[in-house]
Amino acid sequence: MMRLGILLSGRGSNFAAIAENIAQGRLKGCEIAVVISNKVDAAGLAIARERGLKAVAIEARGRKRAEHDAEMISTLREHEVDLVILAGYMRLLSPEFVQAFPLRILNIHPSLLPAFPGLDAQEQALIYGVQVAGCTVHFVDEELDHGVIVLQKSVPVLEADDAQTLSARILEQEHIAYSEGIARVVSGEYQIIGRRYVRHISS
Ligand code: GRF
Repeated sequence: MMRLGILLSGRGSNFAAIAENIAQGRLKGCEIAVVISNKVDAAGLAIARERGLKAVAIEARGRKRAEHDAEMISTLREHEVDLVILAGYMRLLSPEFVQAFPLRILNIHPSLLPAFPGLDAQEQALIYGVQVAGCTVHFVDEELDHGVIVLQKSVPVLEADDAQTLSARILEQEHIAYSEGIARVVSGEYQIIGRRYVRHISS
């Protein structure tokens, strides 16, 4: 069993989708060991508690990044986490954190990377005028929204879209994509060649 450590800051809908897929037996080979929020009032923490999962707030405000990250690393280690899942975790990770879990941190970003990294990706996509948008599950490295891509899903951009309608269409795909991406990593059947994530065992 791979033990997942979820990091979030807010709503927690991606986390909820992952938890539901695990509970329903649709995402096998992993379990949620701990859910950590850098905000005490994150809705995602309440969802975790309702599900009977271990939920911890490690407040970041007013603390140095290195100090806050060190506490998160030790909490993740305490719970013997194998794979860290960023699910709307709205704080940059220190290089020390990334190095503590090499190729063991996943993120989901609401664009087809490498387009539109950073904040408000859906809004950036609309302003740029792309006609296809989507989401990307990727490994986290020391550069923002940059690590090896595990899986992407696309959606159309419609003429009537605003940031809200486009975000909703992408989010629906995020909820599917994240569990599929985790399943790929958990399967042990993929390897990284260059920047490509490719299947090396055929079934
Ligand atoms: C999602 O759009 C995700 O792609 C981005 O942050 C948002 C988190 O939403 N990284 P939620 O907290 O999972 O509902």
